[in-house]
Amino acid sequence: MSQQPTVAVLGLGAMGHAFAANLLKKGFTVHGWNRTRARGEDLENAGLKLAEGPEQAVADAEVVIAMLADGNITESVFKQIEKSLKQGAIVCQMGTIGTEKTDALIAHLASARPDVIYIDAPVSGTKAPAENAQILILASGDKEKAQALEPVFAAISKGAQWLGEAGAGSRMKLVINSWLIGLMQSLAESTRLAEEFGFSTDDLWKVLDGGPLAAPYAKVKLGMIESGDFTPQMHLIWALKDARLALDAANHSQLPALKNIADLWQQAVDAGYGEQDLSVIYQYLKDR
Ligand SMILES: NC(=O)c1ccc[n+]([C@@H]2O[C@H](COP(=O)([O-])OP(=O)(O)OC[C@H]3O[C@@H](n4cnc5c(N)ncnc54)[C@H](OP(=O)(O)O)[C@@H]3O)[C@@H](O)[C@H]2O)c1
Repeated sequence: MSQQPTVAVLGLGAMGHAFAANLLKKGFTVHGWNRTRARGEDLENAGLKLAEGPEQAVADAEVVIAMLADGNITESVFKQIEKSLKQGAIVCQMGTIGTEKTDALIAHLASARPDVIYIDAPVSGTKAPAENAQILILASGDKEKAQALEPVFAAISKGAQWLGEAGAGSRMKLVINSWLIGLMQSLAESTRLAEEFGFSTDDLWKVLDGGPLAAPYAKVKLGMIESGDFTPQMHLIWALKDARLALDAANHSQLPALKNIADLWQQAVDAGYGEQDLSVIYQYLKDR
């Protein structure tokens, strides 16, 4: 294998599109597939080989990245590609699909295609960090056998944290996202309270700035709240999916705040806010 493996990216949404773009910039041969073909067409000039189906996309790939919306979709695409995967390919699942689906996919692929190496590698970071190759990869699986991934991870991220056996990455991802979801809800509520007292978002940020509470994430989301532009970095509906995945996976932990947030975010999704950035929860609180 040459130093740069041939890569297939399945799912050219907000995140997968950024991965493919960064791989192309670093000179990789990249095959891409997206259900809605138009979403990948802008990358064809940069060299993307856009396939008609996932089977064609993976046929020549040493590394296959899956970045699809959820577990059911990932499972159905994996069923489609199973027989077309190259001998010894590395399948790197990077979407947030929860623990149950991850464990089922690992077990299924191990019996259907024992030659294939499954790496479970969800990511921390949203659309803009993905575009700037600044996400963190929560990798798990056989690192020794997946060395071909090293240059791929280097092209799309600021680094990978290897966490253990395949499946550990998806577990850590649920931990991180339950923290992120709590932070977003708290910021939305605190901003509403600040407004009630006559403070602007700028007043609020100036008090936080420079101190231990000034999370960079909060600054970005406050900026979105202030501008009223909720163009999705991370869709509210996918953040709700992640809250539910964490609640489903937590057998023994008590997560009462996360449960309340999921119920509230469901109401916001039902009211039509789901396709906007998760920071739109602030607007939902204001409008309802
Ligand atoms: N955005 C973030 O901040 C972020 C951060 C970390 C992890 N993630 C996770 O990364 C994954 C992708 O997120 P994203 O933000 O890139 O989402 P996105 O922009 O909504 O893209 C979703 C992808 O899934 C595909 N898809 C949806 N339904 C499908 C179906 N029925 N059959 C085949 N393909 C289908 C979409 O294809 P179409 O274009 O045809 O709809 C698109 O390629 C999710 O698991 C998400 O939770 C997202």
